[in-house]
Amino acid sequence: MEELLEKLETYRREIRETELTNPDAAESYRIRFLGTKGIVKNLFHEMKTVPAEKKKEFGQILNEFKLFAESKYEEAKSINHQPSTINQIDWSLPGDPIPLGTRHPISLVRNRIVEIFGRLGFSVAEGPEIEDDWHNFTGLNMPADHPARDMQDTFYIHQNPDWLLRTHTSSVQARVMEKQKPPIRIICPGRVYRNETVSARAHCFFHQTEGLYIDENVSFADLKQTLYFFVQEMFGKSVKPRFRPSYFPFTEPSAEMDINCLICGGAGCNVCKHTGWVEILGSGMVHPKMLQNFHIDPNKYTGFAFGMGVERICQLKYRINDLRLYSQNDLRFLRQFVAAD
Ligand code: DAH
Repeated sequence: MEELLEKLETYRREIRETELTNPDAAESYRIRFLGTKGIVKNLFHEMKTVPAEKKKEFGQILNEFKLFAESKYEEAKSINHQPSTINQIDWSLPGDPIPLGTRHPISLVRNRIVEIFGRLGFSVAEGPEIEDDWHNFTGLNMPADHPARDMQDTFYIHQNPDWLLRTHTSSVQARVMEKQKPPIRIICPGRVYRNETVSARAHCFFHQTEGLYIDENVSFADLKQTLYFFVQEMFGKSVKPRFRPSYFPFTEPSAEMDINCLICGGAGCNVCKHTGWVEILGSGMVHPKMLQNFHIDPNKYTGFAFGMGVERICQLKYRINDLRLYSQNDLRFLRQFVAAD
């Protein structure tokens, strides 16, 4: 018994002094102390030599020793399992770079449009992309049989013949006029949809920004001045704008605005169809019928409206010759755009 206790003390010391800093050392330790032919097992065998009246006491001592030997091993296992052993990491190594994305050119140009009109007091209004007939067409002076509906190939929604994907952001004008009394001065950026075959020049979805200004004494001169200011801020003072008479059911009179082609500089290209001019927006004085539709008194108020294609503006600003590039998600294309100034 004395002898056994001494042995135990020696083993305890050995266990305390052993360093199990790697998996191999821990494994040898396990085999030596806890294995099927290991020290702990042998000590239990030696119980036979202990006199009967001491068995209980020695049994307890041996159990404690067993727990002590096991806990050393468990501790070593948990330390050795820490990811790649914390002490082996070189904290002075440079970190993995986190690549920063860039904004999509359409977003950059949209933000720029909003910012320019923001300086003139226009605030942003939004509306749904799934619209009803009234807000997209009828309320805008385009009843069911109106020929102008053919100008826009519309996606209708199966479940309800009254629902469609908005073909223009003019639908937001309708929604704002319905709720708000003049003065109204809003800009409405958003996505629109038309059933067009995708090509370098057309897409089945694209972006527009609508503008609407209604107050007392708003004139065509205000419309021109506002849009001149806009193109100069967007493209620089040397841009050449021109107005052409046009037709839209929701404005009277109506005009389209062109600017000189910034892609070919007037030499002629596929974007300006070799004319040197590119149309960027439609506009006009809000039709009195429209004002009446939305319970705004046309004898008291007048207004102007315009709608521009964001892809077109972006195309001229960054000289992009194919509309499909905007939605192909090619990083070589997308990484080139840093900021629209
Ligand atoms: N909604 C027209 C289109 O998509 C653009 C437009 C023209 C908007 C004249 C207007 C406007 O607000 O007054 O072609």
